[in-house]
Amino acid sequence: MLSPESTVSPLSHARWWRAGVVQAVSPPGVIDLGPGYLEPSLLPVDEVLPLYPEALTEFGAAALGYGANAGAEPLRALLAARHGCAPEEVMVTAGTSQALTLLCTLLGRPGRTVAVERTCYDLGRRIMTDHGLRPREMDADGEGVRAEALDRALSHGDDVAFVYLTPTFHNPTGTVAGEQRRRELLAVAARHGVPIVEDDAYAELGLEPTTPPPSLAALSGRRGVIRLGSFAKTLGPGLRLGWLEADRDLVETLTERGQLVSGGALNHLTSLAVAMLMRDGRYDRRLSWLRRQLRLRRDTLVAALRAGTDASVTVGCPAGGYFVWLTFGPRHSEASLLAAADRAGVAVAPGSRFGGIAGTHLRLAYSLNSPEGLAEAAARLVAAWRNEETLR
Ligand SMILES: Cc1ncc(COP(=O)(O)O)c(C=O)c1O
Repeated sequence: MLSPESTVSPLSHARWWRAGVVQAVSPPGVIDLGPGYLEPSLLPVDEVLPLYPEALTEFGAAALGYGANAGAEPLRALLAARHGCAPEEVMVTAGTSQALTLLCTLLGRPGRTVAVERTCYDLGRRIMTDHGLRPREMDADGEGVRAEALDRALSHGDDVAFVYLTPTFHNPTGTVAGEQRRRELLAVAARHGVPIVEDDAYAELGLEPTTPPPSLAALSGRRGVIRLGSFAKTLGPGLRLGWLEADRDLVETLTERGQLVSGGALNHLTSLAVAMLMRDGRYDRRLSWLRRQLRLRRDTLVAALRAGTDASVTVGCPAGGYFVWLTFGPRHSEASLLAAADRAGVAVAPGSRFGGIAGTHLRLAYSLNSPEGLAEAAARLVAAWRNEETLR
């Protein structure tokens, strides 16, 4: 067994990291800063391997039966203790995307709106529009959505299903809402009687010594807030495991949906396997290790970009999560920046993908490459943009 400090597992089976097995791979020679994936060597193959035998030994046949509709008690209890709520306020899900889909089937119907940040996780928005929800966009600042913008969005007389927010380590901007802002947003939503869906996929990935403010769910006692958590960003998306926190009545309503009554828990054996990891400190050790790895990658990318760009480019340094958000001055166009990056063999995500914000932006993920790869990517980008005379 490798020590937790080693980054390349003998079980990483690089030959299988290919399209058709995993969702997407970058073409040879391209350094991919596009998607919010973990680098294969950061995926915990060695740590996950023993968990299934452990779960099967401990739970026997119960690990292979239909799981309790809201998720198996052992994981619900561990999550509840970790997040300061009751097990009845926790439901195990198959990740944030599935939880959002389930919520849309309950709260959404064509013609209703959903209040979203103008710039937000594009695929979260897509899940909502897939269900016929119409996005009502809200303005944000360096702390995310402003309370007045939320108030305005909820005052149009629309039939609003819910508000979708990512107050912690926002994708793509990296912003964090302070506690005061969180309380203001909660007060506005409560006054309008509209629930908030808090997408907290990156909450455990703070990269600074300071911890982020309490979640909206914690601040509200889970009244009027549904918090979505995921192991996709902290362990691996292939586990398809997450949870939601909400008031007991909503958890009960969700667990009475046909999908759950028919199929039981959404990811039963994996939820028991991950409970093995969480109950004795292995999960926390893994998280500390992952945060160190991500901090090194973030710092490498930010430092190299800042050193190579002028005042017309603002290189954000997020306090957590996976992404650096770049803001370009008015003389830069997204199309020419993307074309230059493409010619230099670096894939990046266009800011426009995340909504119609003013100005030119790019999102760069530091999660999918080694520090060396990120340094090389930054050098290529800086040179390419300079050659384009888009920078200096
Ligand atoms: C903000 C946000 N929410 C949710 C997800 C998807 O989460 P999951 O893999 O748990 O479905 C992502 C992944 O990129 C994300 O960035």
